[in-house]
Amino acid sequence: MTPQNPDSRARLGLRESATFDRTTIAAIQRAADTGIYDIRGWGAKRALPHFDDLLFLGASMSRYPLEGYRERCATDVVLGDRFAKHPLHLDIPVTIAGMSFGALSGPAKEALGRGASEVGTSTTTGDGGMTPEERGQSKTLVYQYLPSRYGMNPDDLRKADAIEIVLGQGAKPGGGGMLLGQKISERVAAMRTLPQGIDQRSACRHPDWTGPDDLTIKINELREITDWEKPIYVKVGASRVYYDVKLAVHAGADVVVVDGMQGGTAATQEVFIEHVGIPTLAAIPQAVQALQELGVHRPAAGGAADRKGVQLIVSGGIRNGADVAKALALGADAVGIGRLQGLALAAAGPEGVVHMLKLLENEVQCVLGNLGLTSYDQLGPEHIYMEPDTVNPPHKLSAFPLLEEGY
Ligand SMILES: Cc1cc2nc3c(=O)[nH]c(=O)nc-3n(C[C@H](O)[C@H](O)[C@H](O)COP(=O)(O)O)c2cc1C
Repeated sequence: MTPQNPDSRARLGLRESATFDRTTIAAIQRAADTGIYDIRGWGAKRALPHFDDLLFLGASMSRYPLEGYRERCATDVVLGDRFAKHPLHLDIPVTIAGMSFGALSGPAKEALGRGASEVGTSTTTGDGGMTPEERGQSKTLVYQYLPSRYGMNPDDLRKADAIEIVLGQGAKPGGGGMLLGQKISERVAAMRTLPQGIDQRSACRHPDWTGPDDLTIKINELREITDWEKPIYVKVGASRVYYDVKLAVHAGADVVVVDGMQGGTAATQEVFIEHVGIPTLAAIPQAVQALQELGVHRPAAGGAADRKGVQLIVSGGIRNGADVAKALALGADAVGIGRLQGLALAAAGPEGVVHMLKLLENEVQCVLGNLGLTSYDQLGPEHIYMEPDTVNPPHKLSAFPLLEEGY
């Protein structure tokens, strides 16, 4: 008799293997059929330590909540006041992460810019360059300087409000990307000076530098081109975060962006997405430790009001205001969001972008109020409860060992 249901299969000893589960077997069959590796978008699908493993220690006898209807908390943030003449001032600690023009359409990028401007935050260009519509609709626009240089234009550097040098993305540290031919419209092709309708690979490393010393030179070059006006960010995909953050600060970055393994991508190899890099939750403490050791992590909050800091933006898997607040509590100054805004846009159009940003801000306000805090930088790991066995708490970095040498 052929077994009809899982119970009868189990009685015959036909259990599904945890190692070779259905998804794995399907992947093996697909690979055998095609002989090529999988390239896909989105982000890691495996279960990873995440913000859900953290809980807030809310108000109680020992901590008094704010009265939410009368007392507000300060959640605005200044980014890039270390060296830039014109630092950014964001009303909310959430910024829209760089997404390529090509992966996203022109109207989508424009809608993100309009939504971000309405709530007083910034949006970011991406691979493929800056469109006039996006620039026009974004009050504060960060211009990405990427390994591929697709769409790179020195005039656009000057039109931007900040520059983000992308060294890597959390979904694919050290990896390049792929834009499918069907997305290479006439306009996308023209901006990238590549043929229309043909798959485009984007490079994994910058053509003109190979290490941290070159990064110092590049940062200075970009500062010169833009008259030392614009904050310079350095974005890294989370892997050797402690060292990368230290090197970025030494090279002169005003802001460091750390994108964790959960981060979204337009497309890259599955093997990168699922097996390269470390989770956002593990990356933040390493970044904070590096900044603290250099004396540039929230110096004003620590009483050094005269000392300028280097701000930390964290991205990768942010889904709601609780995630934002938890990232801030672990030491981020702001978070970047990618897929969340894409989903909001797809669900409710341009209005969805505004709704989502406002909701994130309100939820952060709720958490801060509950904890009785009046400013985001008062949030710290002491406001968080975590199960030591399920996550990698800040004091237990050894779960993701720091390498002693080599970067
Ligand atoms: C459709 C799409 C396109 C992206 N394009 C870029 C890009 O051009 N440059 C870049 O640095 N990161 C790019 N990213 C990564 C985002 O900047 C960000 O690091 C990531 O989406 C954060 O994770 P989240 O999606 O979970 O918020 C892209 C992500 C998505 C989803």
